[in-house]
Amino acid sequence: MRSHYCGGVNESHIDQEVTVCGWAHRRRDHGGVIFIDLRDREGLLQVVYDPDIPDVFSTAESVRNEFVLRVTGKVRRRPKGTENPNMATGQVEVLGKQLEILNRSETPPFQIDDDDVSEEHRLRYRYIDLRRPQMLQHLQLRSKVAINLRNFLDNHGFMDIETPMLTRATPEGARDYLVPSRTHEGAFFALPQSPQLFKQLLMVSGMDRYYQVVRCFRDEDLRADRQPEFTQLDIETSFLDEEGIMGMMEDMIRHLFAEVIEVPLHDPFPRMSYAEAMERFGSDKPDLRISMELVDVGDLMANVEFKVFSGPANDPKGRVAALRLPKGCELTRKEIDEYTKFVGIYGARGLAYIKVNELAKGREGLQSPILKFLPDEVVDAIMQRTGAEDGDLVFFGADKASVVNEALGNLRVKLGHDRGLLEHGWRPLWVVDFPLFEGEGGELGSWSALHHPFTAPQCETAAELEASAETMLSRAYDLVLNGTEVGGGSIRIHNADIQASVFKLLGIDDEEAQDKFGFLLDALKYGCPPHGGIAFGLDRLVMLMAGAPSIRDVMAFPKTQTAACLLTQAPSVVSDAQLRELHIKVRKKPAADKK
Ligand code: AMO
Ligand code: AMP
Repeated sequence: MRSHYCGGVNESHIDQEVTVCGWAHRRRDHGGVIFIDLRDREGLLQVVYDPDIPDVFSTAESVRNEFVLRVTGKVRRRPKGTENPNMATGQVEVLGKQLEILNRSETPPFQIDDDDVSEEHRLRYRYIDLRRPQMLQHLQLRSKVAINLRNFLDNHGFMDIETPMLTRATPEGARDYLVPSRTHEGAFFALPQSPQLFKQLLMVSGMDRYYQVVRCFRDEDLRADRQPEFTQLDIETSFLDEEGIMGMMEDMIRHLFAEVIEVPLHDPFPRMSYAEAMERFGSDKPDLRISMELVDVGDLMANVEFKVFSGPANDPKGRVAALRLPKGCELTRKEIDEYTKFVGIYGARGLAYIKVNELAKGREGLQSPILKFLPDEVVDAIMQRTGAEDGDLVFFGADKASVVNEALGNLRVKLGHDRGLLEHGWRPLWVVDFPLFEGEGGELGSWSALHHPFTAPQCETAAELEASAETMLSRAYDLVLNGTEVGGGSIRIHNADIQASVFKLLGIDDEEAQDKFGFLLDALKYGCPPHGGIAFGLDRLVMLMAGAPSIRDVMAFPKTQTAACLLTQAPSVVSDAQLRELHIKVRKKPAADKK
């Protein structure tokens, strides 16, 4: 139907006849001449119709935005002064000889070049939204990223193997999406939260190196970097330790950034322990583009009369930390109130602060609602330790360590964005030496796995594990990029005793372990090689590489914050007949409960 893409026509085609197809992006009447900007995937091309051929001209007059056209004409140089240097095809235009309307379009729900359309409207008419050049660029980038990663893995001996979507629950920490079985009354499949168990079984089978670009499903609270249905680049390999895997994976990511967006990343990526990340940044995915750090001041506060500080300072599970904001004196009362509200989201009961107006003046030069509770030597020590200078503001968090870390850790990132304290560039980081378990601990079974329960501990035997479970570190690693966790993995347990011991510590008894993961425990008995792997969030990687604010912007058909598809109106109610076939009866909420 066509000889060229619209966006592919240039000066080398001058005097040639071309046929192009596309959408009428804009039509303008200029005193007896009609201009149509024709758009296809590759770009825009200006087509001109003059009244010489009356029936073609009248067809051109009837064209409206988003009509689908087929145009034949001769390429010519644009008249002097009408060139458009911002367009790839801006030196040329096509003098239209023929014009075929392949399809008409109603007035679209929004203009393709209108940047001020609500996301709801965009998702409802996603097929129109995807006509916008930016969305197209995102999907093109996504395609390039996937191909680049596949090629790298193929060149390194990884096999692309598919695993089931209709399966049993894989514990990755979210709720499952369930699928009722028609043939097994009352039984359900779970959609995979990840292919974790299958990829481990493939190692038992001797596949040696596996990868898959695979959809995963997690019913969890959604955020800008989370979707209920998302894509992992999932990887597993036998006979490599964490050094081998991390080394190869960072080569892959460096290669990806260099080839696809021409960004050279650090070599090697820096590493940081989980403990250090929490202490300095209050987060296991620190954004290293922000230089502010949390500073412990608990030892200074142990004896102050301000209970809000001395309480957590004397509690082994507590933390009192300071965060110095350069030039923070500029903050207004209202802004400080807003930040106080912000840390409240993470459970903080307040946000104490000291404004450092003039250090040389001592106490007189400081301004703070808590100053009266702190003796001079404590105030001096805080100023020294935080490195405060005139004009700065020091925030404080005091509570259980987990609350302080979350509150100040998130505040640090928010301040970084709000106050323009983000360094330019790319800061990858491996976070390592995670604790194996999290939770209050104490009794057997009250923990949960920090990653998933198949992660190997940093010890050799079940006895060692059980003797020091509370402080045991794991052989897990996360890849963090500019404050986003883009990948996570570990060396796995390949020893049935250690796996059984982990289940026990997680409070999963033998019967339940057998019921849920019997197939894995069995497989571990039949010659399971040492193995490990990682999974990258493909959507997140592309989001970062595209500089997009949300992963929804790099997915063709994403879900909303409430996990619905506005385009297809999924999820939807199904017929009684269908439910009956599935042996399902929907519980109606009593009228009083209905919102
Ligand atoms: P994990 O749960 O860390 O590990 O997931 C791996 C990566 O997937 C991405 N990710 C998500 N992206 C978008 N929306 C979500 N809801 C979402 N959840 C996770 C993140 C994350 O780093 N089986 C293990 C991997 C392994 O051990 O090999 C796993 O799934 O970028
Ligand atoms: P109050 O005495 O409760 O008015 O608190 C005095 C100051 O301490 C206020 O600025 C509060 O925001 C702050 N504050 C209260 N609780 C905490 C806390 N747990 N961590 C940090 N600051 C707090």
